[in-house]
Amino acid sequence: MSKLSLTTAKIHQDFPMYSSEHRGHFVYLDSASSSQTPRPVLDAVNAYYETYRANVHRGMYQASETATKEYEAVRRMVADFIFAKEDEIIFTRGTTESLNIVANGFVERLEAGDEIVLTVMEHHANLVPWQQVAKKTGCILRFIPLRTDYTIDIDAARRLIGPKTKILAVTLASNVLGTIVPAAELAKLAHAHSAVVVVDAAQAIGHIPVDVRKLDCDFLAFSGHKMYGPTGTGVLYGKKSMLQTLDPLLFGGDMIREVSFENATWNDVPWKFEAGTPNIGGVIGLGAAVRYVQKIGVQGIAAHEAQLTAYALQKLTEIPSVTIIGPNVTKERIGVVSFDVAGMHPHDLATILDADGVCVRGGHHCAMPLLRSLGHMNGTTRLSLSIINDEKDIEALAAGILKAKKIFRI
Ligand code: ALA
Repeated sequence: MSKLSLTTAKIHQDFPMYSSEHRGHFVYLDSASSSQTPRPVLDAVNAYYETYRANVHRGMYQASETATKEYEAVRRMVADFIFAKEDEIIFTRGTTESLNIVANGFVERLEAGDEIVLTVMEHHANLVPWQQVAKKTGCILRFIPLRTDYTIDIDAARRLIGPKTKILAVTLASNVLGTIVPAAELAKLAHAHSAVVVVDAAQAIGHIPVDVRKLDCDFLAFSGHKMYGPTGTGVLYGKKSMLQTLDPLLFGGDMIREVSFENATWNDVPWKFEAGTPNIGGVIGLGAAVRYVQKIGVQGIAAHEAQLTAYALQKLTEIPSVTIIGPNVTKERIGVVSFDVAGMHPHDLATILDADGVCVRGGHHCAMPLLRSLGHMNGTTRLSLSIINDEKDIEALAAGILKAKKIFRI
């Protein structure tokens, strides 16, 4: 294959997981599940715990002021990263919490007969909260189908999005198929009917450019742990006007302005949504992750992962009885590739691959309705790429599949 955009040998020096004292042979192809952590992120988290640990927004002493300054600086960094404004960024525990905040906020505003439009490839995090909203309000869920090439059926979307649509909630990139969703185009259709647009960017962030202005979404959610940040960190972006009228999900300290025995008023946006002591160290680590991704450059990352995706598609297609479940092209897709090996359960394959240090995900990938509707009752095996991967990882995976086929006599 042609020379990769990024030099992985150099990148591996940033990831302690690659140092021999931890793991010698390590082929990590599961970044869509959770990415590995580079040293600058660990250092930033440690610096907080070791040198200025204190609560934010509360203490009138140096450590607390430093913690507050560092925590709020990450809000600015994240805002710049996705082309938003600082007061449009809410820190959460992850995509799931972010999407639950939005869904919960619409329970009181929707009524029976209203429609929520999703795609058939939503992760459970962008499906189950809306199912709950539908149960509580009597509104109806509609699903944009896929074409046979696993891309969004935009004609069907045009028919589905109409005057009854109140919410359009779509993934930006599928965690199963790798398909990139034309979210900006769908947002235009939804906004023509004054619907609210919610984008789940969990799989896109840190892999392809994410620009809330171009998407023109009203809300966007992502997790820190899928973009080299700490687990338990996430972001909810919301247009300020949306956040001002949305009810919070959690109530308690820090999110209030005035409290009496009977009543309370809310703090300004974004703090209205950050009740209780936040994950301060995690958020500071998230800031370091944003800096790390920006230093490498999202365009370069996207190019690197696209090259490797092409190579993975080629190598997998060469293996008899392997079928790619997703677009078998490199355009409009991310480096997430699901596949099926005829006659082999994905869990068996993942276990055999693990014996050689190859980490992949097997199963339903938190998108059970999609896999079932595609007829993959046991799910699929999935590789997912990031900046740490190179062609040797794909070759190790291909060799592992051949070995598994021999064991299973396929
Ligand atoms: N959402 C994560 C995945 O796709 C956990 O693996």
